[in-house]
Formats: sequence, structure tokens, C-alpha cells
Amino acid sequence: MYRFYLDVVRNRKKGKVQEIENLRKQLKKNKTIIEVTDLGAGSRRNSTNKRKIADIVKHASVSEKQGRILRRIVDVYALENILELGTSLGLGTAYLSGQSSNVKVTTIEGCPETAKIAQNNFEQLSIQNVVQKVGAFDEVLTHLDGVTFDLIYMDGNHRLAPTLKYFEWAVEHLSEEGFIILDDINWSKEMIEAWERIKADKRLNVSMDLFRFGILSKREGQRKQNFVLKY
Ligand SMILES: C[S@@+](CC[C@H](N)C(=O)[O-])C[C@H]1O[C@@H](n2cnc3c(N)ncnc32)[C@H](O)[C@@H]1O
Repeated sequence: MYRFYLDVVRNRKKGKVQEIENLRKQLKKNKTIIEVTDLGAGSRRNSTNKRKIADIVKHASVSEKQGRILRRIVDVYALENILELGTSLGLGTAYLSGQSSNVKVTTIEGCPETAKIAQNNFEQLSIQNVVQKVGAFDEVLTHLDGVTFDLIYMDGNHRLAPTLKYFEWAVEHLSEEGFIILDDINWSKEMIEAWERIKADKRLNVSMDLFRFGILSKREGQRKQNFVLKY
């Protein structure tokens, strides 16, 4: 835990993420409108299915601060097999792709138009260790049975029931030393409820509340504990 706090949460080293942040700046200026297919909790701001890329990057993409945490978990713990539920424009995926060539990120996106832009973004960043799957989580996850992941980043459907369902899948497919990261644990009443239930789960001994992220790990043999980490 102490190592996690110092090396992942408090670590202020910049790391090589400038290209990702340059891409974010470009996307923020991109006024192209695309038609999105929403398989998740929907938008709290928008009732149509037309979205400007600039708005998607502002409202749906991981922030630089959160992204750096994703990158450091992957690098510090030398994680290799990573799964992301919800690619969006691929900024979270880019952070998860880590520094080592041993990393492989599988990322799932239900909206084909959004996934196409993410693909262009990976090409622009010369990221080659990402496998993109386009389809509904429920469908794609059935093809990933039998695989275990070192990190599962749940950043898709922010409703209570689907979050609990994907969490159940994640626990069954998590490697012994792996991490589950849940985004937006304080986004809504349903997500607060989801996090309360998930952190009480007896199969995972360590849970960490970073306000936006909830991070869990099995850590067998360790006493069950929940940490609230400020950064
Ligand atoms: C918050 S965004 C992901 C942001 C991204 N992980 C990042 O860090 O930049 C959530 C994405 O999940 C996708 N999504 C939500 N529910 C889904 C589902 N059931 N199946 C497939 N994709 C889904 C949405 O289309 C949306 O693009």
C-alpha cells in the first residue's frame, strides 16, 4: 500500500506523455460532428446522438491527472495484459499502453464512429500494442472468456446493475496480483452505491478510494482494508 501511494499516487515524475496531451489539445479544437451510438448510461448534457469531437474529449476522456495514474500503475507494477471497457477517443487507452513493449491493451467500444476516431488517434501516436474491439461489452466479453487480465479499467456504462455485472466478470478474469479500476465512483447515486457494494466484496482485500477512481486488488492473505487516498 505504502509503495502504491508513493510510486503511483504521489509520484510527480512527468514521464513521456506529452504526445498524448498534444493530441488532446488537437481534439479539443476539432469541431467535426459524429453520430454516436450510446450503449451506456447516456449523457447528462445532451439528448441527441450528434456530438462534436471537441465535446466528447472534454466530457468523456480521462483527464491528464487520472491518465498519469493509469500509466504509473502499468509501469510500476510491470502489468502486461490490460482490458479497458469504454475506449471513447482512446486517451485512456494511450495512457494504459505503458512504456514497455510487453504491454498489450484490449479496449472495447460500442460506438463504431467513436472507435474509428480512436483508431486514427492510435495511429497518430504510433501506438501498436492496442487491440480494438468494436461492439457491446456483453457481446465482446463472451469472446474473452478464459483470459486473465492484470488490469481491468471499467469506464463504460455508469449504471448500478451493469457496473455490478461487469465487476463480477472482472473479478473472475483478474490475475492474482491484478487491479480493477472503476472510474467515476462519485458520478451519481448509482455509482456511489456500486462502489459501496464493490468495496465490501470479500474476494478483494484492498480497495482504494481516490475520489474519482476506485482501485481494487485481491492481495490474498492481507487483512481486508479500504484506504482513502488524497493527492
Ligand atoms: C467515459 S467513455 C470512456 C473514456 C475512456 N476510457 C478514456 O479514458 O478516455 C465511455 C465509453 O464507453 C462506451 N460504452 C458505454 N457502455 C457501453 C457498452 N455497454 N458497450 C460498449 N461500449 C460502451 C461509450 O460509447 C463511451 O465511448
